[in-house]
Amino acid sequence: MRHSRILGIGHYVPPTVLTNHDLETQMDTSDDWIRQRTGIEERRVVTEESTSDLGYEAAVRAIAKAGLEPKDIDLIVFATLSPDFYFPGAGVLLQHKLGVGEIPALDIRQQCSGFVYGLAVADQFIRTGAYEHVLLVGAEVQSKGLDYTTRGRDVAVIFGDGAGAVVLGPSDEPGIHSFHLHSQGKYHDMLWMEKPGSAHRPIITPEDIEEGRQFPKMEGQTVFKHATRRFGEVIKEALAANNLTVDDIDMFFFHQANLRIIEAISKALKIPPTKTYNNLHRYGNTTAASLPLCMSEAVDAGHLRPGHLICPAAFGSGFTWASAIIRW
Ligand code: COA
Repeated sequence: MRHSRILGIGHYVPPTVLTNHDLETQMDTSDDWIRQRTGIEERRVVTEESTSDLGYEAAVRAIAKAGLEPKDIDLIVFATLSPDFYFPGAGVLLQHKLGVGEIPALDIRQQCSGFVYGLAVADQFIRTGAYEHVLLVGAEVQSKGLDYTTRGRDVAVIFGDGAGAVVLGPSDEPGIHSFHLHSQGKYHDMLWMEKPGSAHRPIITPEDIEEGRQFPKMEGQTVFKHATRRFGEVIKEALAANNLTVDDIDMFFFHQANLRIIEAISKALKIPPTKTYNNLHRYGNTTAASLPLCMSEAVDAGHLRPGHLICPAAFGSGFTWASAIIRW
C-alpha cells in the first residue's frame, strides 16, 4: 500500500521586524494591549518582496532538506490568502521562479487552514501514484494589505509575513495517517476581505477604497469563540479516528493565531506545554504559513524529531478548520 510522508521542511521570514512599540507610533494601541490579548510581541514584514518570493525561499530550503533538487518536484500546491495577483495564482509564479519544467501548480484558498488542506491534497496525489514529489507551500505577505491606522488596529496588530514549505513523497509506512477538514461558509463575513470581488459591480470603487473596504475585517470575539470550540473538536476527531489519546501524541502544533486560544484548548484537552511549540510572539499570525513555519522551527530547535507522532490543527476565515495526524 502506497502512503505519503513529509521528506523535508523549511521556512523563511523577511528580516524586517515590526514590534508592538513600532505600532504604537502608527496607531492608538499599546504593547500591553497586544501582548495581553494575543501574546504577540513582534512580527516580520517585507520591504518589497511578494508572497511567491517568500514561498520560493521556503521552498528551496524544504527541497534541500528533503535531499532533492527543484527538478525532482512534480506538483506544486500553494496555500495563501495573499497571492501576488488576483490571478494567476502564486503557484505558477513559484513554478517559474524555481526554474522547473512545465509541472502543474495549483493554489488553495483556505486561509489559516490552508496548510492542513494542502497536506490532504498532496497526500491524495501521492497515494494514487499520480505524483512522486509534491511541494506544499504556505506563504503570506499580509503587511502590504493591512490598515496600519487606528481604524484598522484590531486586525493590523495580529498579522505578519512569512513562509513555510514541505516536500511530500511516497512511503511504505504511513506518514500522513489522517486528516479532517471542515468549512462553514455562513460565517464568511466574520473574517474577510470584502473588496475587490466579483460579488460587486464594479469590483471596487474609489469610495470603497476611501472607506477602507479593501482591508481585512474581523469580528474578533465571534472568531475567538468559534476557534476555541472548533480546535478542540477537530483535535478530538483526529485522535478518535486513530484510536489515540493526548498521551500518544508527541507534539501538537496549533495555527498561531492567539496565545489565549492555544492556552484555552491546551487546558481543555490537558495538553502539557512540553507537547506544544509556539512562535507567534515573534511572528504574529502568518495564516497559511503559520503551521509549517512553526513545525520547521521546532525541527531546527530539536523539539520535533524523526519518529514523533504529531497533530497539527488550524482554524480560520471561511470559517474553515482542520487537523491531521502525522508520523514525522
Ligand atoms: N489596540 C488597542 N485597543 C484595541 C485594539 C488595539 N490594537 N484593537 C481593538 N481595540 C479596542 C477596541 O476598540 C475595544 O474598545 P472599546 O471597548 O472602547 O470599544 C477594546 O479594545 C476591546 O475590543 P474587543 O474586540 O472586545 O477585544 P477582545 O478582547 O475581543 O480582543 C482580539 C480582540 C482581536 C485580540 C480577540 O477578539 C481575538 O483574538 N479574536 C480572535 C482573533 C483570531 O484569532 N483571528 C484569527 C483566526 S485565524
